Amino acid sequence: MKKNLVFLGPPGSGKGTQAVRLAEKLTVAHVSTGDVLRNAVKEGTPLGKEAETYMKKGELVPDHLLVGLIETMITDGKLKDGFILDGFPRTVPQAESLKEMFDRNQVPLQAAVLFQVSDVEVVQRLSGRWFCPQCQATYNYPARVPEKEGVCDRDGAALQRRPDDEEAVVRNRLEVYRKQTRPIVDFYRRESVLREINAEGSPDEVFEVLVREVG
Ligand code: AP5
Repeated sequence: MKKNLVFLGPPGSGKGTQAVRLAEKLTVAHVSTGDVLRNAVKEGTPLGKEAETYMKKGELVPDHLLVGLIETMITDGKLKDGFILDGFPRTVPQAESLKEMFDRNQVPLQAAVLFQVSDVEVVQRLSGRWFCPQCQATYNYPARVPEKEGVCDRDGAALQRRPDDEEAVVRNRLEVYRKQTRPIVDFYRRESVLREINAEGSPDEVFEVLVREVG
């Protein structure tokens, strides 16, 4: 059966890392709203121009922009063979809109997976995150270091840092998560689809738990 999943959790909890691996295993689409927005910023599209001011400060981009984006993916059939939504929904209104879209299009949601990690772990992970601007591969000091310092293993491009991984911005992202995103957990608990996982282990350990829960 094709799987339809939502990944929730604070910044740096490993949603993206695990979504890439699980989407490959389940052969479903991986939709990271953060990646979609970062590409839009890079390309200077109207969405990117509007999103950039919020993203730099670690604030959320207005709901209607993200809801419209996901709705288009559903109606265009991009999610018809299963999906992992990584970073959406992020507010209660987004979760409510998503439920309406799913109901209207008869899309069942099997699970909303909550990745649980401490603030200390988040700050440590994000201060060590580097990514490849060409292929988007993610590295981490000390958890996943490239073979050659500062260079992507896959394509040799110079690794970069995300501007919103600066510690002050990370602290704001954590605050925004607590105020605006965390309330979604109760929404999915009421819908009986919430699965909570301890995401503090190594990437392999977390993947094992994830596969046991939803794979
Ligand atoms: P987004 O890109 O979604 O950022 P985020 O949720 O803050 O998540 P991150 O990408 O920082 O972390 P992650 O949980 O995916 O962890 P990762 O696997 O990368 O969003 C960015 C911005 O876009 C938002 O702030 C907002 O402005 C906007 N936005 C996006 N969606 C939106 C929405 N729906 N509504 C409104 N605005 C929206 O891992 C992090 C690091 O840790 C990596 O270096 C990784 O290698 C390492 N790592 C991963 N797992 C482990 C592990 N088990 N042990 C050790 N290190 C690990």
